[in-house]
Amino acid sequence: MNQSILEVKGLKTSFFTDDGEVPAVDGVDFSVGEGEILGIVGESGCGKSVTSLSIMGLLPSPPGKIVGGSISFKGEDISHAKESRMRKLRGNDIAMIFQEPMTSLNPVFTIGDQLMEAIRLHNRLPKKELAARAAELLKMVGLPRAKELLKEYPHELSGGMRQRVMIAMAMSCNPKVLIADEPTTALDVTIQAQILDLMLKLNRETHTAIILITHDLGVVAQVCKRVVVMYAGKVVEEGDVKDIFNHPKHPYTEGLIRSIPDLHSKKDKLYTIKGSVPRPGSIEKGCLFAPRCEYVMDKCRTDSPELVGDSHKSRCFLHQVQE
Ligand SMILES: Nc1ncnc2c1ncn2[C@@H]1O[C@H](COP(=O)(O)OP(=O)(O)OP(=O)(O)O)[C@@H](O)[C@H]1O
Ligand SMILES: [Mg+2]
Repeated sequence: MNQSILEVKGLKTSFFTDDGEVPAVDGVDFSVGEGEILGIVGESGCGKSVTSLSIMGLLPSPPGKIVGGSISFKGEDISHAKESRMRKLRGNDIAMIFQEPMTSLNPVFTIGDQLMEAIRLHNRLPKKELAARAAELLKMVGLPRAKELLKEYPHELSGGMRQRVMIAMAMSCNPKVLIADEPTTALDVTIQAQILDLMLKLNRETHTAIILITHDLGVVAQVCKRVVVMYAGKVVEEGDVKDIFNHPKHPYTEGLIRSIPDLHSKKDKLYTIKGSVPRPGSIEKGCLFAPRCEYVMDKCRTDSPELVGDSHKSRCFLHQVQE
């Protein structure tokens, strides 16, 4: 990996609700190298979005709060940075795109207004130059007839076009890190592939590091070199995508891989991991995956495995016993 630009260490983020503390992210470690594309996968409710909102300083607070660990951007711990510092980082260094672009674009302003405002926040150019830069960004994300598009409203665009606009807005500050939280789940498969291609292109051309969050290991295989697998607020496996696909070291990852639809399979039923992600904090001891694990051992119900390994890490007694 290149020199790391963002390092998350032992991150713990909780929500303080009427029912008590909900530990949504419970000790997450990973780092992203300069210009790298890192995947983060896991089922719904694993803590992927809470992790990214924690990095961005965008947790709804209250009830959300970072209660432990650190988030270092270029060596600076930003986990408890002031809002003014975070605003600066969000404008210049770390950008994020969300799952549903319609909720992040304002329906009453044109694409041009919103894109120019995003540029203006960190680059006070005269109006004419703002418009030129906005058109340039639209071209960069592969949108045709940029000039006309600037005058249109979000509802006049297709879902894929809106997501491209969101990517253009995120890229307007030349960020060092782009967090893409399920950027393609709301799109149909062909458009999804185009957006992934676009992200690869931007990564090549601008050298922006990308954290690609998805519940789809197939997407990760297409785009990422390294992947972090999250389960119930923890990292359960991390390593090179190829290593993980060929030799998963956690039964959860194995289940996710088996759940990828196979075009050539004769079986008419898809594999699914039985059961569901536990509510944060609901399992008091043992491995959090034990209730769903096909290989569960007695020890797994009482002791919590640590994340161990060098370039390929896993949090599973089965694989620790074998090695
Ligand atoms: N505002 C909130 N108050 C209480 N709990 C919350 C809040 N936001 C998130 N959580 C809890 O945090 C946990 C992690 O949620 P998160 O949104 O990070 O999951 P995710 O991995 O992004 O899932 P998805 O794939 O569905 O987007 C969930 O159990 C969720 O219920
Ligand atoms: Mg999410």
